[in-house]
Order: sequence, then C-alpha cells, then structure tokens
Amino acid sequence: MRLILVGPPGAGKGTQAVFLAAHYSIPHISTGDIFRANIKGETELGKLAKSYMDAGNLVPDSVTNEMLKDRIGHADAADGFLLDGYPRNVGQAEFLDEVLEEKAISLDAVLELQISNEEIIKRLSGRRTCRDCGAPSHVIFEKPAVDGVCDKCGGELYQREDDKEEVVANRLNVYAEQTEPIISYYQKEGLLKVISAYGDVSEISASAIAALK
Ligand code: AP5
Ligand code: MG
Repeated sequence: MRLILVGPPGAGKGTQAVFLAAHYSIPHISTGDIFRANIKGETELGKLAKSYMDAGNLVPDSVTNEMLKDRIGHADAADGFLLDGYPRNVGQAEFLDEVLEEKAISLDAVLELQISNEEIIKRLSGRRTCRDCGAPSHVIFEKPAVDGVCDKCGGELYQREDDKEEVVANRLNVYAEQTEPIISYYQKEGLLKVISAYGDVSEISASAIAALK
C-alpha cells in the first residue's frame, strides 16, 4: 500500500498514521517528524527548518523534496509507505509523481481527513507530542496513563512551538492557500478518498480502512 494522508494541521493525520502504518505493515513517513528529529539532533537541516516551522510556514521545497526522496528510497519503504504531511503543495505533488515514475511504482490512494477550524483549535491547544517517537496525545481527548509520559514509548511529552495560537492561525492559512490545491490534483488522478475526522479515534480508523478497501 502506497498511501498519502492529507488534512489540515490538527486533523489527526499523525494519530491515524500510527494505526494505519501498523495495519498495512508499512513505514509511517512524516516530514514534520523528520524535521523535528533534526531539530532535536541540532543538525544543519534542523537549524534550517526550525525558523520556518516555528512561524508555521513551509520549509523550502528544495530541501523537503530531496529529504523525502531519500527517505522513500530506504529498504523499509520498498513495498509501501504512508506519507503524513507530504506533499504540501502542487510542486511537491508533481515532484513525487516524477520520483515514483522513475521507480516505476504508483500511489494507491490519497486519504483526506475533513474537519472544521473550530475543532482543530481545540485539538491543537491541548496536544502533547512525544520527544522520542513523535506520537501525539491530548490533555483531554487522548490522555496518557501517566501525565507527561508517552503511552507508546515512555518518552517525555512536550508542547510543540507551532501549537501556539498565532502560529496555528498562520498554519491554517498556509494549508488553505498552498496545500488544499493538491486535493483537486489527486481527485483528477482518481486517487482521492475523503472521510470525516470527527468522532473517536477508533471510529475514524474504521472509516479509513473502509474507504481504502
Ligand atoms: P507537521 O508535523 O506535518 O504538522 P501539521 O500538518 O500541521 O499537522 P499536525 O501534526 O499539527 O496535525 P495532525 O493532523 O498530525 O494531528 P494529530 O494527529 O497530532 O508539520 C509541521 C511543520 O513542518 C509545518 O508547518 C512545516 O513548517 C514543516 N513541514 C512538514 N512537512 C512539510 C512539507 N512537506 N513541506 C514543507 N514544510 C513541511 O492530532 C492533533 C491533536 O488532536 C492531538 O492532540 C491528538 O491527540 C488529538 N486527536 C486526534 N484525533 C482525535 C479525535 N478523533 N478526537 C479528539 N482528539 C483527537
Ligand atoms: Mg502530525
């Protein structure tokens, strides 16, 4: 299965990706998580990405595209992958099509998670993210068993810099202006499946699996 998850910030892409990647036995590739791991490791890539991410803007395509191409070339992605947060504009979607064409492989589906801005703000204001595995949780909606500790790996939970209110507003604008156009791009390619991102995490997972059948 070669799958893309698309949806606004806070729609639940990372939450559903953990489940879907396990269900289809494919790696979960999140460009946001790769950037955050580089920021944590204080690499050159991390230093470059940080200023864009903290402001809620896209990291330049020249950097992001090469990073993604390298990641999908790893052995674990040979038989499939789930992309979370990539592509994020039409240029990236076109670049991905070229990379896949060179490899003579193609996408199976693009799954869009639909949700309102009001709900996004509730989700992002209470989100906590694991410093080690990147898994999201929520102080009210997905409370960890022990405060401040990741249920999945035991890592420390923190609040992302870009979850501050003013940065969230910019991320929503960037999504509407730059990312939404990829939805019609994939609709024209006949790959788009749309599901509602409201309800329990497990209900949404079930709708995702049904839509992908
Ligand atoms: P990225 O890390 O991809 O962030 P994002 O797309 O803004 O999405 P989020 O991670 O904020 O939300 P999500 O949909 O994963 O929701 P989650 O599951 O956490 O990107 C960050 C930055 O990196 C970008 O702004 C950009 O600067 C850069 N970047 C990344 N990729 C790039 C690219 N391709 N090109 C250029 N730049 C790039 O859920 C949110 C919260 O809701 C959590 O607390 C969760 O517990 C809770 N929740 C989830 N589901 C439910 C539910 N059903 N009910 C109640 N609560 C729920
Ligand atoms: Mg995420």
